[in-house]
Amino acid sequence: MSKNSTASQFFLEINALNDVSVASNATNMSAIFTFNPEEHYGISLPLNISFYTRGRKNKMVDALTIRNAIEGDEDDIYNIHTEAIKKKCSSHYGTEDVDVWVARQSKAKYLPSIAAKEIIVAEKLGKVVGFGHLLHCKESDGKTMQIRGLFVDPDCGVKGVGSALMKEMEKRARDRSADCLIVQSSLNAVEFYRKCGFIPLEMTTHQMSEQSCLQCHKMMKKL
Ligand SMILES: CC(C)(COP(=O)(O)OP(=O)(O)OC[C@H]1O[C@@H](n2cnc3c(N)ncnc32)[C@H](O)[C@@H]1OP(=O)(O)O)[C@@H](O)C(=O)NCCC(=O)NCCS
Repeated sequence: MSKNSTASQFFLEINALNDVSVASNATNMSAIFTFNPEEHYGISLPLNISFYTRGRKNKMVDALTIRNAIEGDEDDIYNIHTEAIKKKCSSHYGTEDVDVWVARQSKAKYLPSIAAKEIIVAEKLGKVVGFGHLLHCKESDGKTMQIRGLFVDPDCGVKGVGSALMKEMEKRARDRSADCLIVQSSLNAVEFYRKCGFIPLEMTTHQMSEQSCLQCHKMMKKL
């Protein structure tokens, strides 16, 4: 590197493999570090290197890993699910609906879906921070898959975890020859799905108990 270099930022490309061990939207990450050629010429690399996804420089996705959920993850999945309902979905649903929705969840309920490899989790620094549930639509010709749930730990929300899980579910759906994804989006998540390329179809309801049903928005994305 020339001493006359005027560049103050250098981008180190990390050619992460497009592998399930790395969040899909974290591929082609850039390590960005500042460098002052006057002061640091010929000296060692800077100490602090932060990882950002390209085009989302304000959203730090440090070492986000996406993997299949395994038995033992059900506690984390349950906690994220119920906390996200209480803290995020409550913006669009009443207290009674939220209470019934939370009460319907149980740790044991996830186990068959975990065994069927329908649930993936996002892990950051060894901690599960989100999960997605993808399965074939029973009533479809096998080309349509359904997102049954996508929930991110509300304490680390809007940092790209939801879209990383979405990308991985899209990839898995394509790998299974699906050409369409559908979701019954909770009302609070409609804009998120829109940003992920889904289009709204119709309003639907999701029956939770005899007394309670949730309004949802059915949305679809062609793959
Ligand atoms: C919806 C949810 C999964 C999004 O996860 P997230 O990690 O916060 O989302 P991301 O950081 O990947 O956001 C991706 C984009 O969507 C936008 N976005 C996310 N949530 C949004 C919301 N509620 N309203 C509007 N935009 C939203 C982000 O700003 C970002 O936009 P950008 O790419 O222009 O910056 C998360 O908020 C959640 O768990 N919500 C509660 C559970 C829920 O309703 N799940 C859906 C059930 S069907």
